[in-house]
Amino acid sequence: MSIENFDAVDIIRVKRDRGTLTGAQIDWTIDAYTRGVIAEEQMAALNMAILLNGMDRTEISRWTTAMINSGQRMDFSTLRSPGGTPMRTTDKHSTGGVGDKITLPLAPLVAVFGVAVPQLSGRGLGHTGGTLDKLEAIPGWRAELSNEQMMRQLSEVGAVICAAGASLAPADKKLYALRDVTGTVEAIPLIASSIMSKKIAEGTGALVLDVKVGSGAFMKDFTDARELATTMVNLGTDASVHTVALLTNMDTPLGLTAGNAIEIAESIEVLAGGGPADVVELTVALATEMLAGAGIHDVDVAAALTDGRAMDKWRAMIAAQGGDNNAPLPVAKESEILYAQADGVLTSLDALDVGVAAWRLGAGRARRQDPVQAGAGVRLHAKPGDQVRRGQPLATMLTDTPERFDRAREILEQAATIGPVGSRPDMTLIHERITAS
Ligand code: URA
Repeated sequence: MSIENFDAVDIIRVKRDRGTLTGAQIDWTIDAYTRGVIAEEQMAALNMAILLNGMDRTEISRWTTAMINSGQRMDFSTLRSPGGTPMRTTDKHSTGGVGDKITLPLAPLVAVFGVAVPQLSGRGLGHTGGTLDKLEAIPGWRAELSNEQMMRQLSEVGAVICAAGASLAPADKKLYALRDVTGTVEAIPLIASSIMSKKIAEGTGALVLDVKVGSGAFMKDFTDARELATTMVNLGTDASVHTVALLTNMDTPLGLTAGNAIEIAESIEVLAGGGPADVVELTVALATEMLAGAGIHDVDVAAALTDGRAMDKWRAMIAAQGGDNNAPLPVAKESEILYAQADGVLTSLDALDVGVAAWRLGAGRARRQDPVQAGAGVRLHAKPGDQVRRGQPLATMLTDTPERFDRAREILEQAATIGPVGSRPDMTLIHERITAS
């Protein structure tokens, strides 16, 4: 048996008593936990101490580096276009929201301008959807790619959305699963290091963070969202990744759909030059930031949505991963409509309620191993700011299993607030831009 340099209980006591962990203590903690030397209950206690007492910038940076070093780093420095030109890489990460399908039109849109987008994504857990679950609604599409397949697709198509391999920050996989069941997901140092360890290990040259704030987000208020964004931007910048963050609204769902196949269909509308205004606005804003991070300025990003170039990239990206662009998307077997209860203006439509309703209808999963229903979800017929009339459809619930309607309706009915005619709810989508401090 090897001799260990530290004792887990001593390390827990340091954080419990509001002390600062040394670099060597942090390196050992992450390594020993990954090796199974630190027990789950010890790591749970340490996570709770971090949630309650925080970490300083040096500790968070070292914790992130230790998580990166628990696995392999990807390297795109040799990436070339088919003509042999070196390609830059840029990526986006969203902290998660309801109806957040932005990655889908965004990756092919950015690739139009010759910058490669390696998007390593995850599956959904809880009320926020997962990009891979959405893409798996497309018949034939596969999420698992080898590193060689990923490099080839990046070179030939310019965009890849695929599953992160097991070797990318394995310490985070273990730690995240533990945080999920111990009420310690919401610790800013742990969220920031979890997200940034994966993004830095992924090897992207530039990164744009879409930090959600509002009822459907991890961060419900601006102070927390700003702190999370600043922490992540500083981590990226310190690791030589050009990183900026946008703080964006998640009080109400993005677009008019929350689910899997229905979000794919809405993304395709955006790629065809249409789609809901908020999805288009955020897609264009994030694409502009991603391109600027890769050194490309003064291009007409929106034009690539309306002239078909982004759609061509999307079709190539889907086909390269086995997806059938011409196959019809799955449709839920059953639907039920919810109607407005009064005349007036829809003043709010709560993102968390809509997300939970979509999840209860079968669009999301309660346990990592559960399947999701491709056709399930919620289709919205009005957005905050819209005038509505009593009896008008507000939302359609979709599922293959109608016994789910009652519990979904219970939550969806409380999602909408209708105010008097003339009400003007604040509809700001992009609140702030955060750069390194
Ligand atoms: N997403 C992650 O990858 N990690 C977190 O801690 C929270 C959201």
